[in-house]
Amino acid sequence: MAQLIGGLATSHIPAIGGAIHKGKQQDPYWKPFFDGFPPISHWLAQVKPDTVVVFYNDHGLNFFLDKMPTFAVGAAPEYRNADEGWGIPTTAPLPGNLDLSWHLINHLIEREFDIVTCQEMLIDHACTLPFKLFWPGHEVAPVKIVPININTVQFPLPTARRVYKLGQAVGEAIRAWDSSERVVVLGTGGLSHQLEGERAGFINKRFDLQFLDSMESNPEWATQFSDLELVEKAGTQGVELLNWLAMRGAVSAGGASVKKVHGNYHIPISNTATGLLALEVA
Ligand code: DHB
Ligand code: FE
Repeated sequence: MAQLIGGLATSHIPAIGGAIHKGKQQDPYWKPFFDGFPPISHWLAQVKPDTVVVFYNDHGLNFFLDKMPTFAVGAAPEYRNADEGWGIPTTAPLPGNLDLSWHLINHLIEREFDIVTCQEMLIDHACTLPFKLFWPGHEVAPVKIVPININTVQFPLPTARRVYKLGQAVGEAIRAWDSSERVVVLGTGGLSHQLEGERAGFINKRFDLQFLDSMESNPEWATQFSDLELVEKAGTQGVELLNWLAMRGAVSAGGASVKKVHGNYHIPISNTATGLLALEVA
């Protein structure tokens, strides 16, 4: 059976793409952010995952407000990036893992998640940038992907508890996949940030640190909150932390325990409190 070897999570701010393109990793502004990544890249080079299942939220590149699936699973042979208007270079397509996509889709439907299946799917900064961060120096990261889009953008959003359960179902499915592959799950976005309205620039360090702590020791902690409570605590875009929760549900599926590989927290990059975490399944 396939092996689920760990979970990753990182913020996905578009400006990161510009910083990588311009080689600004050592600039004083960027260094505390980029310095979090080498220990995790080193770990990934050792454990060599074949496939990454990515929980992320599309920001209008693939799904617009007129058609907004709650959960959408990619089932494409490759996933192209396209210009989102941030002025950052578009990245090369990432190869899909079709066999795992359909395995996950079948398992999720059987477990009563009424997902949308996408045999064509553009991926935006929330899916592309983490690969540039975790596999620096690679034109294309040496992995295949299955992207799973979670609506964190337009209310009503799925509840934190439902998202955690989605993650658990994905984790179970990966472990039941008849394959010799090594799989990592990834959640992108967050931590606290709000880009618009009266609270633009809102950051909540106290909440973020509690959330990061819960990711290690009490993974279901955030599921006690409603989506409106999460918006209040983390900001309108801070609810992207739902993607982290899905990742965490996946790694702990079946009662597996985890060990922290490395983490980082740095405020701010752009308007966002950045978080980073890698967990290894023990
Ligand atoms: C920013 C953060 C995001 O999560 C995003 O999707 C776009 C922009 C920002 O802080 O600039
Ligand atoms: Fe975002």
